[in-house]
Amino acid sequence: MGTPSPSACMEIKDGTHVAKVVLMPGDPLRAKYVAENYLENPVLFNDVRGMLGYTGLYEGEEVSVMGSGMGIPSMGLYAKELFSFFDVEAIIRIGSAGGVGDDVNVRDVVVAMSASTNSAYPSRFGLPGSIAPTADWGLLRDAVNIADEMNVRTSVGSVYSSDFFYYPDPDVAQKEKDAGLLAVEMETAGLYTMAMYTHKKALGLFTISDHLFKPEHLTAEEIRTSFHEMMEIALKTAAK
Ligand code: ADE
Repeated sequence: MGTPSPSACMEIKDGTHVAKVVLMPGDPLRAKYVAENYLENPVLFNDVRGMLGYTGLYEGEEVSVMGSGMGIPSMGLYAKELFSFFDVEAIIRIGSAGGVGDDVNVRDVVVAMSASTNSAYPSRFGLPGSIAPTADWGLLRDAVNIADEMNVRTSVGSVYSSDFFYYPDPDVAQKEKDAGLLAVEMETAGLYTMAMYTHKKALGLFTISDHLFKPEHLTAEEIRTSFHEMMEIALKTAAK
């Protein structure tokens, strides 16, 4: 029956466990790819609803990788279960994002210092005023230092976690640009908010897969290379 837990959406398989640090791509098949290509001896710990999660070794340290699904509700739910029911200390989101800022280009690695959002999720925690969903400083510092050592250029700043991929309002992209946001994605504000309220740690790392103002296209090889750079940064940060 696996480890007993109050978890609604995960069931840890017999004889398996979740590491203290979990990398989370949106796509569970991406989690499988990372486990099979970057971790030593990966073991599947969860497959409820196809949300594949594996634990293995990277540079001798235990790391897990599990899909988050798309959007803040899905990310918020899995982050809550991992932090509160499975003793996870840190979650590093590894995702793709749409570039917004002039200084951001397709293929760049973006590190999310903070995540603004059009979602009601952070405000539902009830703090008077509005909260500022923010990365863990130690994780952010380590990731940027590791990227510098690898000679990978990073852009560090604010991303926008949107409930929409297809916006009903065509002016939103310009508003995101006016706000100085680097990129848009769909989960990080939920992750950072849940980390705040569980007193745990989180970080979001992104490869820029498209740009809202620059019609660039990546070749399959370029996608693989930039994903690989982000992965190395994420894994070395997790194993530190
Ligand atoms: N993820 C990758 N590109 C995106 C975009 N343009 N909007 C939202 N999420 C994304």
